[in-house]
Amino acid sequence: MKKILIIGCGSIGERHLRSLRHAGRAQVWVCEPRDELRTRIAKDYSVEAFASVDQALAALRFDGVVICTPAHTHIPIALTALKCGAGLLIEKPLSIKLDGVAELRQAVAASKRFVGVAYVYHFVPGVREARAFLQEGTLGRPLQATVVAGQHFPTFRPAYREIYYTKHETGGGAIQDALTHLANAMEWLIGPATRLYCEAAHQALEGVAVEDTVSVTARHGETIVNFSLNQFQAPNETSLQINCEHGSVKIETHSQRWGVCLRGAADWNYHSASVAHRDDLFIAQGNAFLDGLEGKPTTLCTLDEALQTLKFNLAALESARTRQMIVID
Ligand SMILES: NC(=O)c1ccc[n+]([C@@H]2O[C@H](COP(=O)([O-])OP(=O)(O)OC[C@H]3O[C@@H](n4cnc5c(N)ncnc54)[C@H](O)[C@@H]3O)[C@@H](O)[C@H]2O)c1
Repeated sequence: MKKILIIGCGSIGERHLRSLRHAGRAQVWVCEPRDELRTRIAKDYSVEAFASVDQALAALRFDGVVICTPAHTHIPIALTALKCGAGLLIEKPLSIKLDGVAELRQAVAASKRFVGVAYVYHFVPGVREARAFLQEGTLGRPLQATVVAGQHFPTFRPAYREIYYTKHETGGGAIQDALTHLANAMEWLIGPATRLYCEAAHQALEGVAVEDTVSVTARHGETIVNFSLNQFQAPNETSLQINCEHGSVKIETHSQRWGVCLRGAADWNYHSASVAHRDDLFIAQGNAFLDGLEGKPTTLCTLDEALQTLKFNLAALESARTRQMIVID
């Protein structure tokens, strides 16, 4: 059994805790500075809970650490945990700026520890299956793609006014919080974005000033991609469509299906891609982290893929601010 420490037991930390315990391959500890929350988690899950990262890392040697704190704290915590010999699963986004990323990459290389970033679309069955199909090459080159997504964020995250979401500096706003998942998924499906133009605005969400609505026109090499996302609409829907030389692929996470429409076909040929419970994605991701710690291959988002998506996030924020197209280095 691997010894795993979860750092930060807010919304996603508790989900990782539940999912890793469900996987049944790890002994889990937690670290959470908020007294009331720490006490509740320790009681509900019968886990040992530490009040600080330093306390936890001094008490035990962990095989792996899952970093579930707000994004501006990910890199300093990652560097500290690596020094103590742990492999890492870092929540998305990797960070809110590029500072410290080069140091982290060097530290990871020197440590020889496994590191992944928790872009969970890598475990959405429709995305995985569509990606495998695209890689077979039957449809030829991807030429154009669209991503259309939205949900009523207050319904899914009622505490949005009280968490990191309220400020860009802590990883907030629609670009760093929600669009980043889809940017990373599209990069995983067709390759990295190379330049983009972004319109973003605060349109609806009460009690915050960050953007809740985003539109990005991007180039991923020769593919032209449009991302359109908001966090206020009633339907909770996400669809990604990739139009290639010989046909199209569509992923609809809300319908739990993906499909292919070959040039000349009358309709889509859909495949079911069901997810019985949202935790299932995180159980699969947790198992992949444990596989990575054991030296097995995984499809977790790599550090370099997450760095590329961080550059996408930063380019989108800069473009929205300057009204300029931004080339991604
Ligand atoms: N993959 C996903 O689907 C998904 C979903 C939600 C959030 N996230 C990401 O996970 C991260 C956390 O999000 P959340 O919604 O759980 O936030 P949250 O505010 O609910 O929880 C964060 C927790 O971290 C704790 N914390 C802060 N600084 C700490 C430190 N230095 N040491 C230990 N604990 C510390 C806080 O006390 C808090 O309980 C963010 O990066 C967010 O983008 C990912």
